[in-house]
Amino acid sequence: MIQTKLTDMLGTRYPVIQAGMGPWNTDKLCIASANAGALGIISTVGIGYLWTKPEEGGPQTPYEFLRSIISGVGEATAEKKGVFGCNIPLAIEFKEQIEGLIKATGDARKEDPDIADRLKVIITSAGNPTPWTDAIKETGCYWFHVAPSVYHAIKGEKAGADVIIASGREGGGHVAFEPIHTMVLLPAVIKAVNVPVVGAGGFADGASLVAGLSLGAIGIQMGTRFIATKESDFHDLWKNKVVESSEMDSLVGISIFGPARYLKNEVSVKLHELLVGGFESGYNEGVLLETKGIALSIEGGDPDWSIYFGGEASGRIDSIISVQELLEGIEEQAEATIRDLQLNLGG
Ligand SMILES: Cc1cc2nc3c(=O)[nH]c(=O)nc-3n(C[C@H](O)[C@H](O)[C@H](O)COP(=O)(O)O)c2cc1C
Repeated sequence: MIQTKLTDMLGTRYPVIQAGMGPWNTDKLCIASANAGALGIISTVGIGYLWTKPEEGGPQTPYEFLRSIISGVGEATAEKKGVFGCNIPLAIEFKEQIEGLIKATGDARKEDPDIADRLKVIITSAGNPTPWTDAIKETGCYWFHVAPSVYHAIKGEKAGADVIIASGREGGGHVAFEPIHTMVLLPAVIKAVNVPVVGAGGFADGASLVAGLSLGAIGIQMGTRFIATKESDFHDLWKNKVVESSEMDSLVGISIFGPARYLKNEVSVKLHELLVGGFESGYNEGVLLETKGIALSIEGGDPDWSIYFGGEASGRIDSIISVQELLEGIEEQAEATIRDLQLNLGG
C-alpha cells in the first residue's frame, strides 16, 4: 500500500484523485473511482452551463442538479464507503452558478450525516479563489485549489486552501498561457507554499505516481488516464482516441476560459492555429467551434470536429480497463518501482 498524507487526510486506499472533467459529466466515473478506493470527483461545469438540459419535473437549476447528482453518487457509494468531492471552477463568467454549486455541496453535507462523512472535498479551479473563502469554509469540506503556476498556488494558499493541486502544461483540458510543465512546476510549488501539494498533468501509472511522490507531492490527480476506463462517462470514440494517440498527438488551442490541451483532430488543429494567431483575435471563432465540438463529443458525432480534451499522457495509455484494475495496477507498479529503485541505488 502507498500511504501518504493524502490517504490519511481522506481515508482513501490510493493517493489518487480522479480529476473533474467538465463540461462532460463524470458521475459514473466518480462512483467507480470512489468505490475502488480513489477520490472520485463530480464535475459541475456541464450543469453550471446547463449542457445537461433540464427535463420537466427534474432538477432545473445548477443547485438542484448538483443536489440530485450528490444524492445519486452518495447512494451508489454508500456500501463501499466511497469518498468523493465536487470540482467547482471559479471563472468570473460562472459567478451565479458558483454560489449555488457551493451551497448545494454544503447543504447536502448538513442534511445527511453519511454524506457529510464521505463528501470530503471541493476542488476549485480556473479563477480567483479569494472571494469564495467564507462560502467554501462554511461547507466543512477540505478545500483543494488547482494552480498552473507558483503565483496562483500562493494565491490559493493565501485564500485558505488546504491543499494545492499543481497542474502542469502537459495535462488535458485547461492549461496556463505559460508553458510550465509538471517536472518543474510541482517542486517549485512545493517549495513556495506551506500546505501539502498534489501533482497533476502527465500522470498515468505507478511509475509516474512514484515520480510525483519523489518530488514531494502527497498524491496525484489524473484526467486523461481515467477517460480510458470501462466505467467512464465519455463516448467510446474518445476512449479509443486516447488509446490510439501518441505523446505527439495533443496540442494547445483556444478554449472558453483560456488555452486548453486537446487531442489532435481537425477542430483542434484549427483551434491551435487560432491561438497562434492571437487569443483575443481568435476567441469568438474558437469558442463557436468549441461549443459545437462539445455537443458532437457528447453525442458521438464526427470525430474530426468533436472536442476531445486530452493530455500528452495519452501517449502512455494503451488500454481501456476498469477503474479497479487501473488503481490496483498503479499500486502494484508503484511498489515495484520503489523496490527497483532501492535495488538500483544499492547496487
Ligand atoms: C476532458 C477533460 C475535461 C477537463 N475539465 C476540467 C474541469 O472542468 N475542471 C478542472 O478543474 N479541470 C478540468 N480538466 C483538467 C483535469 O482536472 C486534470 O487536472 C488534468 O486532466 C490532469 O492532466 P492529465 O490529463 O495529464 O491527467 C479537464 C481535463 C480533461 C482531460
